[in-house]
Amino acid sequence: TTVEWEAASYDMGGHDTYMHKEIHEQADAVDRVLRGRIDDRFSTVRLGGLNLDAREARQIRRVKILGCGTSYHAGMIGAQMIEELARIPADAEPASEFRYRNAVVDPDTLYVAVSQSGETYDVLAAVQELKRKGARVLGVVNVVGSAIAREADGGIYVHAGPEVCVVSTKCFTNTTVAFALLALHLGRTRDLSVRDGKRIIEGLRRLPGQISEIMKQEEEIKQLAGQFTEARSMLFIGRVRGYPVAREASLKLKEVSYIHAEAYPASELKHGPLALIEPALPTVAIVPDDDLLEKNRAALEEIKARSGRILAVAHQEQEKADQTIIVPKNEDELDPILMGIPLQLLAYHTALALGRDIDKPRNLAKSVTVE
Ligand code: AGP
Repeated sequence: TTVEWEAASYDMGGHDTYMHKEIHEQADAVDRVLRGRIDDRFSTVRLGGLNLDAREARQIRRVKILGCGTSYHAGMIGAQMIEELARIPADAEPASEFRYRNAVVDPDTLYVAVSQSGETYDVLAAVQELKRKGARVLGVVNVVGSAIAREADGGIYVHAGPEVCVVSTKCFTNTTVAFALLALHLGRTRDLSVRDGKRIIEGLRRLPGQISEIMKQEEEIKQLAGQFTEARSMLFIGRVRGYPVAREASLKLKEVSYIHAEAYPASELKHGPLALIEPALPTVAIVPDDDLLEKNRAALEEIKARSGRILAVAHQEQEKADQTIIVPKNEDELDPILMGIPLQLLAYHTALALGRDIDKPRNLAKSVTVE
């Protein structure tokens, strides 16, 4: 029953922290968000809770995604997937900013509110303001029956299961998968071909196995983490698909280890941050094997030429990097789902080595339900 399942998920199950447990639950969690939703016959997905028929889906002119913190980062990845697969202009914005700037609310825009808890006040307030102005709002939410899920016109539950650790890990991953489902669904009501639909579905099915592969590298990642405990600051870079991954990895490190970290688009390095590069500032670079590989390699060269230390997260060994964590390759559009996972482990082991209170970092709460 649900009650037993819930009780089991609060059990530490042999892990020392909930963060560690939840990182390791991700292969199963992704399996859950996919379960029962894939429609092989039409190379699409069934998302019963969307309350959006095909005709309405085709009328959407823009998608605006709103969330805070980690959920906002998942939304950034979602926006790119929607643009790539459905060719609908999409972007993500922190809900906390959106609600204060008297935004133009457009009837042809689909608004998507993202929240693990479904209770974050900034997101709820944005949803309520949007509804008051007659907008259509979907929720991408983890906690069933939460305030945001109830306010929304429809949505997708991300089925990550209870997340206890204050910092979000498995819910981030499941939210990005939920966005891949939404992007595929919107794409297949428009011009995404059957062939591309199949390609994405096959990619989605590979994810749980690939996550298990990443987990096998934990010991090596733990060793790497030992090298960063002395760092006063770290730089995370990524380009296009890699940029939201860099943002999320930087937030994770800050939250649990208290090491200052900054994420920057790799393409913006030469417009300022290169001035910071020196041996004492390690850079973590997200280097997917896609059409931007050469551009990303050039960025690594720029950093190396200034004696910067580099850890790459890539699909193949990076010559300019001091170390590379190799992540299994998926379809280009789905790569961001996997590339941040080793960096959750890196943040975890850095914080552990520093003796931090991992499940309850100072000054933070699991859900921010106040103004
Ligand atoms: C995640 O690690 C953070 N603790 C935080 O940024 C969180 O994602 C944010 O407060 C939003 O929470 P929600 O997803 O429950 O709305």
